[in-house]
Amino acid sequence: MSETPVPVVLAGAHGHGRSHLRNVHALAEEGLVRLVGVCDRVPLPDAEAGDGVEQGDDLGELLKRTGAAATILCTPIHTHLPLARTALDAGSHLLLEKPPTATAAEFTALREAVASSGLACQIGFQSLGSEAVGAVRSLIADGAIGEVRGVGGAGTWVRTSDYYARAEWAGRRTLGGVHVVDGALTNPFAHAVATALALVGAQREVSGEIALELFRAHGIESDDTSCVRVHTPAGTPVSVAVTLCAATSRPPRLVVHGDAGRITLFYTLDEVRLERPGSAPETSVHPRTDLLRNLIGHLRGEAPLLVPPEDTAGFMAVLDAVRRAPDPLPIPAGMQRVTREDDGVHRVVEGVDDLVALSAERVALFSELAAPWAAPGPAAPRPAAAGDPGGG
Ligand SMILES: NC(=O)c1ccc[n+]([C@@H]2O[C@H](COP(=O)([O-])OP(=O)(O)OC[C@H]3O[C@@H](n4cnc5c(N)ncnc54)[C@H](O)[C@@H]3O)[C@@H](O)[C@H]2O)c1
Repeated sequence: MSETPVPVVLAGAHGHGRSHLRNVHALAEEGLVRLVGVCDRVPLPDAEAGDGVEQGDDLGELLKRTGAAATILCTPIHTHLPLARTALDAGSHLLLEKPPTATAAEFTALREAVASSGLACQIGFQSLGSEAVGAVRSLIADGAIGEVRGVGGAGTWVRTSDYYARAEWAGRRTLGGVHVVDGALTNPFAHAVATALALVGAQREVSGEIALELFRAHGIESDDTSCVRVHTPAGTPVSVAVTLCAATSRPPRLVVHGDAGRITLFYTLDEVRLERPGSAPETSVHPRTDLLRNLIGHLRGEAPLLVPPEDTAGFMAVLDAVRRAPDPLPIPAGMQRVTREDDGVHRVVEGVDDLVALSAERVALFSELAAPWAAPGPAAPRPAAAGDPGGG
């Protein structure tokens, strides 16, 4: 590919797409890309899109009209596969937001479509573009914390009813008969799951049973307070416990427990902390490569793709288990502190901040920590049934 700016279309511009828009404008300043089109059901004001940028709500038609060589797909989860196919059919490379698809079967179809197109597809797990991930892997490989015993992830964020009111697919497991899987582990904390697996070599495959405990405090269909535990192919346990009903928002963290110390990755901050008995903690902050920049570099033959679809297969196994799991259990109103504020209804689950932290400490499920609202026994995923919406 020549060194001229790569013509790009952005699909899905109003939500998280706005940060892609800012990024495209920034990379355009460097001459790496040129925004040629914006695809959304609701047009952007011309001033935001930029001079001469085509707009439309039909991605295939817009790609034909603009000849865009790359598409950034930042639309709702259940639209990913059909729109990705449209882009690939038009000969456009992809930066596809996470989660890649809403089911395992769709993920297989996506990978097949990418492979047969010969085009590049980057999945938008930006935490996997951080050198912090490689730094943690190197510390582990160098024996800095001895033998790895397990990884425990913790995520405590505050999301109010407004978060779920912003879009019809928010907080849904299905919509109009198709899978959405917008749960805490599969969407807002998807990076926690994918990055935890990547730290210990399970990004492409997890092993054995996927233990899940899914709960909801908000009046939604999907989960907002959940934990999962899987094993790497080598047998290392990896747990991630998260809530969107925390008392306090904190940067999520992934703790790698070794028999001679621990490493904590704050994946939103690119920060790594190494703690060993008898030594002062050592903290380092690492650079992050923007995933669109990397995609362009890849198209120019300068760099391998940082997040190809196959490196999200371990995460997709977890997503599909969440999809097949029984509906989340409601957390009783008596175990929630509910307040109405300017940004909507806040629900804080009693003791959840401490429980999530303890889960990461012990690589444990909520039920193993005697959470008062956690039913005994994990919610086992149902086997995939023929005729399931989404086919998987
Ligand atoms: N990487 C991250 O940090 C991150 C953060 C937030 C969201 N996301 C992902 O980005 C995607 C979008 O999430 P969101 O929260 O911005 O959603 P949203 O619903 O807030 O916004 C989606 C946008 O897509 C548009 N849209 C919907 N259907 C469309 C279609 N068929 N064709 C064209 N446009 C369409 C909507 O009008 C809207 O502008 C999801 O996959 C989500 O998981 C990633």
